[in-house]
Amino acid sequence: MEKNHPFISYTMKHYSEGKIAQNAKEFRDWAETRRSVRHFSDKHVPIEVMEELIMTGSSAPSAAHKQPWTFCLISNKELKAKLRELAEEEEYRSYNGRMSEEWIKDLEPLGTDWHKEFIDVAPWIVIIMKRAYEVDAEGNKLNNYYVSESVGLAAGFFLMAVHNAGLVALTHTPSPMNFISKALNRPENERPYLLIPVGFPADNAVVPNLSRKLKDRVIEYYL
Ligand SMILES: Cc1cc2nc3c(=O)[nH]c(=O)nc-3n(C[C@H](O)[C@H](O)[C@H](O)COP(=O)(O)O)c2cc1C
Repeated sequence: MEKNHPFISYTMKHYSEGKIAQNAKEFRDWAETRRSVRHFSDKHVPIEVMEELIMTGSSAPSAAHKQPWTFCLISNKELKAKLRELAEEEEYRSYNGRMSEEWIKDLEPLGTDWHKEFIDVAPWIVIIMKRAYEVDAEGNKLNNYYVSESVGLAAGFFLMAVHNAGLVALTHTPSPMNFISKALNRPENERPYLLIPVGFPADNAVVPNLSRKLKDRVIEYYL
């Protein structure tokens, strides 16, 4: 072991085989109840809750522990309205010519269109930025590795934290997303990754009746 990089012992609770199986089943059953929600209430969510959810996201593994993400936490009404306007402009163009017929058809069951009311209505918008590289105090560029994979994991952890808290979110990718960097005045080394409204579902919220792939289509066994 390298002297300059100390290690600490890692222990965790020991469960019986039965308890492990039960944990796995219960967690899966609970995870299966997560849905992407597109109809939000404007009900308040405290900033401290959002900070906890984000820090859960930031606990994700990352390549070489570079943690190549920034979470922008937005509640400012004017900024949300601006983001909605800009997202809708891009989405309008996407739905009216930029997306392929196949893509439009794939989206049909979700009932989505260019309207993005949720950006205005949800109490919080979290924009996850991926950091392509870091810049040190002298202005030198420092590499990050497997940035998309790492930020994807952070986003996944964040979404599960939202679900666990009893809130809902939507993984949204208004395309292209360059307008976000400008609107939020983000530095050159960051690129928008996901726009995620977070809050409570609207009273009349509905979600598409989707089914998920079954085990035989998910797992290939090599035993
Ligand atoms: C990378 C990614 C991008 C997505 N982009 C959008 C989007 O722009 N708009 C939207 O309404 N849903 C978007 N979704 C949500 C998916 O449509 C949703 O996850 C999928 O239909 C499955 O539904 P569920 O999340 O309720 O299980 C996105 C999801 C992912 C993972």
